[in-house]
Amino acid sequence: MKLVPASDFSYEQLVDAYNRTRVDYVVPMPMNAARLQEYARVYDVILSRSTVAMNGDVMLGLGMLGARDGRSWITRLGVLPEGRRQGTGQAIMDELIRQSHLLEVDTIWLEVIKGNAPAHALFCKYGFAETRELIVARRAPNLHAEIPDDIRVKSVTPLDHEDAIILLSHRRQKPNWLNEIESFHHVKNLSALVIELLDGGCGWVTYHAGLLQLTRVCVEVTAGDPAEVTAAILHILHQRHKRQDTITENLLDDEIWEGFKTAGYFEAFRRIEMKRPIHLANP
Ligand SMILES: CC(C)(COP(=O)(O)OP(=O)(O)OC[C@H]1O[C@@H](n2cnc3c(N)ncnc32)[C@H](O)[C@@H]1OP(=O)(O)O)[C@@H](O)C(=O)NCCC(=O)NCCS
Repeated sequence: MKLVPASDFSYEQLVDAYNRTRVDYVVPMPMNAARLQEYARVYDVILSRSTVAMNGDVMLGLGMLGARDGRSWITRLGVLPEGRRQGTGQAIMDELIRQSHLLEVDTIWLEVIKGNAPAHALFCKYGFAETRELIVARRAPNLHAEIPDDIRVKSVTPLDHEDAIILLSHRRQKPNWLNEIESFHHVKNLSALVIELLDGGCGWVTYHAGLLQLTRVCVEVTAGDPAEVTAAILHILHQRHKRQDTITENLLDDEIWEGFKTAGYFEAFRRIEMKRPIHLANP
């Protein structure tokens, strides 16, 4: 088995191998080449530091590495089902960690879907520790969505992309890799609503509105009860975007999530965020 930089392959070849590593996955997530390329761009994946395990001409598995200031991120790791349990996953991890050393990062980040025992065991073996659970949530379109009568709105101010970025740069909570400001800098056409309620509640939502889907929904409450104000903000958002299906990734399990649920969101699945310092105390 040989490890080859992922930059030696086309996105078509990489996505074909990636999809084959996921045929029996806990959550089906097929990709196409354009989506994988967009994913790499938005999440700062460096193909020359990502790796493909090869046996002759046959791809056995792959793993990708993202890099940002002081930290790297292991993603899209997978081994084809027929080649598992022969050390390929470990060989890929070794290479991604070696590349992280070369990048001189302090910390390596990754996520694993809750319930994916083989990957979780692999990451624990490499010294990764759980930091928090992240929720991937959806909400169905509702053509009859109205703002409930008990929500008394004082003002709604729509903002453009640049102002949405400013709001996102000042979040109090530490976001996960997907929702870090670096990701949003690579996304076009974000929108935002800043909302004041008559009872003194205030906050904002940023999001990306596609024709059929709202994505990247982020809420921050600046005054008032976090769950109630979040629910109010989301009711106002969805009253304006009745036709779109919504998906939002990596929410924390906190009072804000309670507000999402009140506004019709449901949990699709959970990820576990894990991190390890680049230098382990007891390797
Ligand atoms: C997770 C995955 C990459 C492991 O690849 P692999 O080549 O089978 O892994 P290795 O043979 O190198 O095994 C290394 C370690 O992983 C863990 N592991 C792998 N398969 C396991 C299983 N079925 N059950 C429990 N632990 C397992 C063990 O800790 C193992 O070490 P050990 O052999 O000393 O027990 C592979 O199962 C896979 O591609 N799964 C589907 C995609 C996926 O889950 N990707 C990760 C997304 S976060």
